[in-house]
Amino acid sequence: MAWGAAPRSGAPGPGRAMSEAPALALAQVSCTFVDKNDPKARYTAVRDVSLTVDAGEFVSVVGPTGCGKSTLLNVAAGLLEPSTGTVQVFGRPLAGLNRRAGYMFQAEGLMPWRTALGNVMAGLEFRGTPGAEARVLAEDWLRRVGLAAFGARYPHQLSGGMRKRTALAQTLALDPDIILMDEPFSALDIQTRQLMENELLALWQAKKKAVLFITHDLDEAIALADRVVVLSAGPASHPIGDFAVDLPRPRDVAEVKTTPRFVALHAAIWAVLRAEVLAGYAQQLEQAS
Ligand SMILES: Nc1ncnc2c1ncn2[C@@H]1O[C@H](COP(=O)(O)OP(=O)(O)OP(=O)(O)O)[C@@H](O)[C@H]1O
Ligand SMILES: [Mg+2]
Repeated sequence: MAWGAAPRSGAPGPGRAMSEAPALALAQVSCTFVDKNDPKARYTAVRDVSLTVDAGEFVSVVGPTGCGKSTLLNVAAGLLEPSTGTVQVFGRPLAGLNRRAGYMFQAEGLMPWRTALGNVMAGLEFRGTPGAEARVLAEDWLRRVGLAAFGARYPHQLSGGMRKRTALAQTLALDPDIILMDEPFSALDIQTRQLMENELLALWQAKKKAVLFITHDLDEAIALADRVVVLSAGPASHPIGDFAVDLPRPRDVAEVKTTPRFVALHAAIWAVLRAEVLAGYAQQLEQAS
């Protein structure tokens, strides 16, 4: 079990080749927001967060609601500039959007005026892929997520699970080296969710991308990841645990949860997370009052 969330610098040090630099390295990242209604009021969501994801590594981040998970993912995506700290992508400082990363948002991100195929093609077209090529790629990805027959449907004609699969195809079609996912399956029923999680694992296993997966569901975090990072409750949230998940692969997310090793890992991580979850709820009540 790796403890302490020791900051592993993204900068290639002596003897560390550029190619070995982590896919993603956040070092001492803090994010402080200014209150729109009271410009003098500040809220520091995350403070001194150091977090790395190696190439090909699957890292889950868990933490109580409102602790700063989406904030960190936005920083990794280059959508939010941290107040202090640095972000490196494959050993290079991140400036602007992270173009090596694909992003699956917490909220639904499909364009309602485009078909499923059109949605998957959109990202490719924005990136400059010629139309015919984009169509072939998009059709291939829709097939891989089991939606070959649904390309002509608009988002409102798809089930919630199908919309999530479309979003997954949209993200993966861009063949990003880093996949950033913000509670992508939380709105799904348990069966669809397990199917999607297994699909994601199979696709990841085949392509070995770096994945940063945000969830508040500890079962999901452990079942999917190589490593689970636990964030403390806010304000000034930061990693308080970093657990290696030594469960064999390939994994079936439903089956793996019944193994003694999974149960032991769950107990160890929950022992750290539990107090933070309670503190997180109390903190949100305080913020609201
Ligand atoms: N743009 C912003 N302006 C002001 N405060 C913000 C902003 N974005 C986030 N926050 C605050 O920062 C904290 C962290 O928010 P964030 O969305 O990152 O939490 P989260 O861990 O993703 O929560 P959840 O699990 O509910 O999705 C919250 O208290 C939120 O209110
Ligand atoms: Mg969030």
